[in-house]
Amino acid sequence: MKHRWLLASAVIVSSLSLVVWATGPAGDAALGAHPYESFEPNSSCAECHTGLVRQYEQSLMHQSFTHPWDEIEYFDLALPHAGKVEKVAGVKAGCNGCHAPLAFLAGDIPPKRPAEGTRANEGVSCDLCHSIVGFEGEVPYNFNFIVAPGDVQQGVRSGTESPGHEIAVNPFMTSAELCGTCHNEKDPWGLWVKATHLEWQESPQARAGIVCQDCHMPKAAGNSAPEAGGQDHPDVRQHLFHGAHDDGKLAGAVEIRIHAAADTAAAGGELVLTATVVNAKAAHSIPSGSAEERLLWLDVTAVDAAGRSYRLPVDRKGFEGEDWTIASADALAYQDIGDIQGLPDFKGLLRDAPVPAGARIFRLPYLDPQGRMTIAQWNTAAFGPDYRLQPLAAVNETYSWTLPAEVAPGPLTVTATVWYSKVVASVAEFLAIPPPEAEPVRMSEHRVRVVVVAAERTGT
Ligand code: HEC
Ligand code: HEC
Ligand code: HEC
Ligand code: HEC
Ligand code: HEC
Repeated sequence: MKHRWLLASAVIVSSLSLVVWATGPAGDAALGAHPYESFEPNSSCAECHTGLVRQYEQSLMHQSFTHPWDEIEYFDLALPHAGKVEKVAGVKAGCNGCHAPLAFLAGDIPPKRPAEGTRANEGVSCDLCHSIVGFEGEVPYNFNFIVAPGDVQQGVRSGTESPGHEIAVNPFMTSAELCGTCHNEKDPWGLWVKATHLEWQESPQARAGIVCQDCHMPKAAGNSAPEAGGQDHPDVRQHLFHGAHDDGKLAGAVEIRIHAAADTAAAGGELVLTATVVNAKAAHSIPSGSAEERLLWLDVTAVDAAGRSYRLPVDRKGFEGEDWTIASADALAYQDIGDIQGLPDFKGLLRDAPVPAGARIFRLPYLDPQGRMTIAQWNTAAFGPDYRLQPLAAVNETYSWTLPAEVAPGPLTVTATVWYSKVVASVAEFLAIPPPEAEPVRMSEHRVRVVVVAAERTGT
């Protein structure tokens, strides 16, 4: 079923009766298959599709090669690693298949740094995406898209005309598989180190027919080329592609509620609280995609009537590998950065910074060949437990807290906050990733109030 796009790949062109066949090369085999000149720059689309282009330029996907953290990870880690270790040699070209697809297709490997201003900087461009006619094989992954660059833009509407190009009506554009060609990644060990599309396939939203485009390119009434004879439509796809780099997208994507088993508690007594954490809005795990570097955590604090504040550690559940999901103040990880950069005395970096010790972390630990946690997804030989939030599902966390002797009588407010960080803070600091990349974003918060009563007298 999955290769229906390839088999049914005759693409009908609305204004010309031209037939384009979705045939290779794709993936690694497409290296060097199309010179840069095969693709128009975004600036030429902007002559008519001004709004869409300006909108798209704000997205991270547009910056897939120029964004500082991408530059650092490719040039300071992946590229040197590829030169040293045969097993991962393929990433020298491979990273670019998704991040600098024009450079990959042109065979310009490794691309020059962004400061050199080559066409690699165009990243995932308008013309690249609108030249994709299908993908090769059964599963979309590792840039196995098939491109047919030229005068034809792959579109979705029949009966539209453009003075700038031909239009092909291609149902592949409406599919999640289009996105999956870059949003699923298999590493040299054959592991799915990025699986946003595969996760989506299992989601309740996928069963309901909701695709990536519905949430990341929502429809609005308008006209995509008002000055060039474009028609008004009630449902023009907004090219937002907003994700983890959009605080508004993150806000509320994870919901939190907390309740206490009793409405009173006493110093020295135990108070049991339960927090319910919900992946309310994404049709994939949260975090998804670059899960190797994301931190999503639940912080629970109590403030008593005297203003004293206490941080509550989460109760253990006892599953294998749970230690990776509970923040430690001093655990070290990411030692492979030292191996890659040839630093003999490198002990590693704080695994969980800046998460407070004892907090629950919803993550998928990526482990290097020596079993140490890594942010290098291409150097991942195994995974720890997948303790991320699944689509439209909730997780309960309990806190069995013995109130300290000094707790003040009166109201006690317990606050549960869900935080999201795009990159582990210690890694960001070590690699000098500019802010705001590692700044935590508050996703949601909820409180419950309990009354602290005088401790019951015991004995005579
Ligand atoms: C000279 C003006 C002009 C230029 C330049 C131009 N377009 Fe268009 N394009 C249009 C018009 C007009 C339409 C029709 C819009 C409508 O009526 O909905 C259109 C439609 C489209 C569609 C939608 C097809 C469909 O039916 O779904 C796509 C996709 C598209 N253009 C992509 C591009 C890309 C990518 C570029 C740059 C490589 C580009 N266009 C450059 C004018 C232009
Ligand atoms: C040619 C490869 C490619 C295709 C096809 C592609 N993406 Fe992406 N996308 C990327 C890359 C690379 C990034 C990461 C950019 C970065 O980190 O600099 C990304 C990032 C994103 C982000 C994250 C933005 C953020 O703020 O963190 C979203 C959302 C996204 N893409 C949605 C989509 C959707 C929806 C589709 C299908 C309609 C799609 N992508 C198709 C390569 C692709
Ligand atoms: C029901 C709406 C919905 C659908 C469908 C959906 N997403 Fe998302 N997506 C979200 C929300 C909300 C977020 C923000 C929370 C987060 O970062 O995980 C997000 C985040 C992302 C991110 C950033 C994730 C990270 O952790 O860095 C990427 C990439 C992404 N989506 C791609 C996709 C792709 C590709 C598909 C289809 C295979 C898809 N999304 C389908 C709602 C959706
Ligand atoms: C990651 C892939 C991707 C990129 C990059 C991208 N588009 Fe699109 N575009 C799509 C998809 C997918 C649709 C159609 C979605 C649907 O209708 O299901 C679309 C639809 C369109 C349409 C038709 C809009 C409508 O609904 O009438 C136009 C015009 C268009 N794109 C132009 C552009 C231009 C210009 C750029 C560069 C700024 C661009 N696209 C970048 C994937 C992309
Ligand atoms: C199969 C396509 C693909 C390949 C191959 C790939 N990436 Fe990515 N990369 C993506 C997508 C898609 C995202 C966005 C995922 C998300 O936001 O969840 C991403 C995100 C990233 C990010 C995080 C961006 C951010 O701001 O959080 C970095 C850094 C990165 N990639 C570097 C690399 C390096 C280095 C390589 C090669 C070792 C590589 N990528 C290979 C598709 C790919």
